Amino acid sequence: MQLTDKAYAKINISLDILAKMDNGYHSLKTIMQTVALFDDITIVITRGNGFSINTDIPYIPDDDRNIAVKTAKAFYKHTGITGYHTNIKINKSIPICAGLGGGSADAACVLRILNVLHQTGLERKELEEISATVGSDVPFCIDGGTKLSEGRGEILTDLPSMPHCYVVICKPPFSFSTPELFSLVDIKKIRIKPDTDGIINALAVRDLKNITRRMYNVFEDIVPRGKIEIEAIKGTLLDNGALSAIMTGSGPSVYGLFDEKSKAQNAFAHLRSNYEECFITETI
Ligand code: C5P
Repeated sequence: MQLTDKAYAKINISLDILAKMDNGYHSLKTIMQTVALFDDITIVITRGNGFSINTDIPYIPDDDRNIAVKTAKAFYKHTGITGYHTNIKINKSIPICAGLGGGSADAACVLRILNVLHQTGLERKELEEISATVGSDVPFCIDGGTKLSEGRGEILTDLPSMPHCYVVICKPPFSFSTPELFSLVDIKKIRIKPDTDGIINALAVRDLKNITRRMYNVFEDIVPRGKIEIEAIKGTLLDNGALSAIMTGSGPSVYGLFDEKSKAQNAFAHLRSNYEECFITETI
């Protein structure tokens, strides 16, 4: 039996870090939004045992180091199902280590597919609980849309949908390690914060301008390198009519939100001439 589904990327409309928790994680307050950029995941289950993985990425481990395999194992452990070989095919379009939740999206998609293939009928809440054991951003990716994510990332509140906008994403040619970036956080030194509550109020009345005016990602003040390039990408997006431009997640990708497709296309064309990993997409 086999099934294919789409694993959609996310952007952070706001990202605030509130405190360091006793378990070493940080408590967050972040609004997350699904965008139409996706990886394709196909799972084939046959009688047997073990896992295999095929991707269009040159080297990818087929054990627990791969978040898709780790997630499949968590599903089988939770459900007690045995006696299957699980082959996971991943066709990547979402850039890796980019702040776009590519790995988390793949993991959530694996859970959704296995839930259908094995007819386990697990509800969204239960899938979110399993997914929280493999990564902090995975619970959001189970259902996606527009959500407030708190705690480590596992406390989710549905928000009114983001008004439709075009999204231009640009990943500069370097990456940050998420644990490294979190290790650099000094809560007392965070000066600029997003107005997350203001964004939630603006979402309720679908006021895009008031949403974009309040966006910010506190990681932008923490990045250990590449700040000039990140600022330059933001500048290009804003110069071409972005309503707002910020870094997403733990970076380094920067995105701009546009209310007009032609402006988004212009921004994309400018960035594309300098950066290999640029995308023009939209909120969904
Ligand atoms: O949960 P995930 O594996 O995505 O987290 C990767 C790392 O990022 C964690 O080991 C932790 O160092 C850091 N992190 C954090 N607070 C969060 C999420 C992640 O400190 N809310």
